[in-house]
Amino acid sequence: MMSAAAFIGVDSCPIEGFEKENVEKVLDLDTSKFQVALMLPFGYRLNDQPKQLRSDFASVVEFIK
Ligand SMILES: Cc1cc2nc3c(=O)[nH]c(=O)nc-3n(C[C@H](O)[C@H](O)[C@H](O)COP(=O)(O)O)c2cc1C
Repeated sequence: MMSAAAFIGVDSCPIEGFEKENVEKVLDLDTSKFQVALMLPFGYRLNDQPKQLRSDFASVVEFIK
């Protein structure tokens, strides 16, 4: 879901720290069938993401034969 959203330019942010029972109550879920495992807000970024700083692959990986 997050990858699909990112593919069309929509950002998302997974959140597991929420009040599960209260959310399920608001959504009127039959929790014997469905439960909420994750909240996933979506939105558009205001500013461009900073460039990620990653070390060169060859400088951090050594193949041992
Ligand atoms: C499965 C999962 C659950 C997460 N739950 C929380 C959460 O409950 N609260 C939180 O602050 N960040 C949570 N995060 C991390 C956020 O999605 C996010 O990456 C983090 O807040 C850093 O955001 P920032 O880069 O804008 O600072 C979770 C990440 C994952 C992968």
